[in-house]
Amino acid sequence: MTGPQIVLVGPMGVGKSTVGALLAERLGTVYRDTDADIVAAQGREIADIFVDEGEPHFRDLEREAVRTALAEHEGILALGGGAILDESTRALLAPHPVVYLSMDVEEAVKRTGLNVARPLLAVNPRKQWRELMDARRQFYAEVARAVVATDDRTPEEVAQAVLDAL
Ligand code: S3P
Repeated sequence: MTGPQIVLVGPMGVGKSTVGALLAERLGTVYRDTDADIVAAQGREIADIFVDEGEPHFRDLEREAVRTALAEHEGILALGGGAILDESTRALLAPHPVVYLSMDVEEAVKRTGLNVARPLLAVNPRKQWRELMDARRQFYAEVARAVVATDDRTPEEVAQAVLDAL
């Protein structure tokens, strides 16, 4: 079937866009991510959509962005960190080569810090990260054909590990 050569999932800040761009360069193809698709289509920032319409509405927009990207994109695709929370989105991913980029909680706190552009982490980042990882880990594992741990690796090493894993 057609569709992306590789789909990257994993928590925010794990490096999906950096690694995705490296993979696209290595494979001579194009990088795309559904967060950017949503911002372009809606003409607004994701944080504003979360605040004004709430997370459920964002997940609806995200599901349609994932559906469209899976249908029309043949390069590297990265999804927003929470896309896997939606059961229908997970079902859309089933036929595709999905790789889960993982990191542990301490690494997540270190990498993202108090990044307010990421609305889910504005308060008490360590506690929020622990809860978020506990709630999502199983879903990342469910959609992924391979898991690549990023904790002690450079983006180049992660990109290579993704290629080796598929
Ligand atoms: C989210 C992750 C973000 C973005 C939104 C919600 C999440 O994407 O989709 O802020 O629920 O984890 P990145 O993983 O690209 O930061």
